[in-house]
Amino acid sequence: MSLISAPPQMLLLLFLMCVWAPATPFTVIMSDSGVPKALVDGPQTGVSMNKDGARTDPREQEAVYDIMRATGNDWATDIPDVCRGRWHGIECMPDKDDVFHVVSLSFGALSDDTAFPTCDPNRSHISPSITRLPYIRTLFFYRCFSNNPQPIPSFLGQLGPTLQTLVLRENGHVGPIPIELGNLTRLKVLDLHKNNLNGSIPISLNRITGLRSLDLSGNTLTGSIPNFTFPVLSILDMSQNLLADSIPSTIGACLALLKMDLSHNRLTGAIPDSISNLENLMLMDLSYNRLKGPLPIWFRTLISLQTLILKGNPMGPTQIPSDACEGMKGLMILILSNMNLHGPIPSSIGHLPSLRVLHLDGNHLNGSIPNSFRELKSVGELRLNDNGLVGPIPFGREMVWRMRRKLRLYHNSGLCYNANSGFGDNLDSSFSSGIGPCEPPRPRP
Ligand SMILES: *[C@@H]1O[C@H](CO)[C@@H](O)[C@H](O)[C@H]1NC(C)=O
Ligand SMILES: *[C@@H]1O[C@H](CO)[C@@H](O)[C@H](O)[C@H]1NC(C)=O
Ligand SMILES: *[C@@H]1O[C@H](CO)[C@@H](O)[C@H](O)[C@H]1NC(C)=O
Ligand SMILES: *[C@@H]1O[C@H](CO)[C@@H](O)[C@H](O)[C@H]1NC(C)=O
Ligand SMILES: *[C@@H]1O[C@H](CO)[C@@H](O)[C@H](O)[C@H]1NC(C)=O
Repeated sequence: MSLISAPPQMLLLLFLMCVWAPATPFTVIMSDSGVPKALVDGPQTGVSMNKDGARTDPREQEAVYDIMRATGNDWATDIPDVCRGRWHGIECMPDKDDVFHVVSLSFGALSDDTAFPTCDPNRSHISPSITRLPYIRTLFFYRCFSNNPQPIPSFLGQLGPTLQTLVLRENGHVGPIPIELGNLTRLKVLDLHKNNLNGSIPISLNRITGLRSLDLSGNTLTGSIPNFTFPVLSILDMSQNLLADSIPSTIGACLALLKMDLSHNRLTGAIPDSISNLENLMLMDLSYNRLKGPLPIWFRTLISLQTLILKGNPMGPTQIPSDACEGMKGLMILILSNMNLHGPIPSSIGHLPSLRVLHLDGNHLNGSIPNSFRELKSVGELRLNDNGLVGPIPFGREMVWRMRRKLRLYHNSGLCYNANSGFGDNLDSSFSSGIGPCEPPRPRP
């Protein structure tokens, strides 16, 4: 897909996905292979747009007027040819007879640079005339209906033959996700982030086999996660809902997954072993659920993993398997706080070459901090506070100074520092509160 023909809202959407986790940037390239054959897929330069005789299909033009009126944008009905007098937020493509067809409509002010038409939040709705746009590929509504809460209209399911991107983000939508959305079998992106949707996730969505990004986060969805298998899905975000029951093992068949965020739900049961198949997975966040232990021993098969966040699942009493993280060369963020973990910190964690953030705080870890932690050259944030750790802190002045206040060691049983470690220079910092020098010297473990 050429950059010129990439709808700006698609780029923005990708941007939104990427800012989610600044530590693990990745970009998903949406292919544009689903272009209806009748349309000429080329850049819409001013020259080609203003070809004599090219006109918007009159039925589509009437539909666009209806849709604009329904969002409080009555000004658009004064535009004699909506595809030729385009505003930022409508995209059209000519067919071979030079008739223009509407392929994309966007609403909402995402940023100063992307001033799509805004909606009148007090009275906007989605006009059913949208079903009279037979070539529409992208619909993007952002913060449109907040003061006029309404369900997602089921008639959107009639756009099945063409629609590829449906974004209804922070719109105040209420009620369930209509099962008819499962008719949108050509969708690549479905984004319903931060509405007030309730009810359960319809299994009908399983019909959308080309889905690449599914974001249902920030709603009040209940029930269990259906047995989905999306072969090309790369982004799955169902965080911040009320989803219960186990994570379905079919998730391990979504082999293209790069990001899986199921955090802040009420998920129970063990983490399914099938997830060990996800060799492309870069980010897994299952934090703040009710998942059961023990910690899986297969994390090391997730060879692409950069971020693993499991905090807030009381999985214990259980131990961190001694080789759990072995060979995870790319792991940058490991967060296992407040999981009721017992026993020692495996020294293998100190051999993770890319580790930048490590949180093991709020557990019952005992024994000493492994000497291997001296090798954590990239770590900028280390939390071992609120555990039962004892013995000398193994790293030196340089690491202490690098992390400063991002080093948290307080509330342990018996940590101490060696005279030349750099701790003594840092008496004012809170991290060392309660930690004294190791004199008289203790034997190293
Ligand atoms: C929307 O309604 C509220 C009161 O319900 C009013 O204060 C506000 O001015 C209205 N906004 C617009 C854009 O009409
Ligand atoms: C859309 O989906 C519903 C429910 O899943 C189904 O009953 C209906 O026939 C479908 N309509 C079309 C046009 O495919
Ligand atoms: C969803 O919310 C609506 C109110 O917005 C309520 O009437 C309905 O009962 C709720 N449905 C479920 C399944 O919770
Ligand atoms: C999902 O699959 C599991 C086993 O494969 C089955 O026990 C469960 O009932 C299925 N759930 C649904 C909602 O179909
Ligand atoms: C650490 O805790 C484990 C499990 O709670 C216990 O079996 C072990 O003896 C403890 N080790 C030390 C050195 O205190």
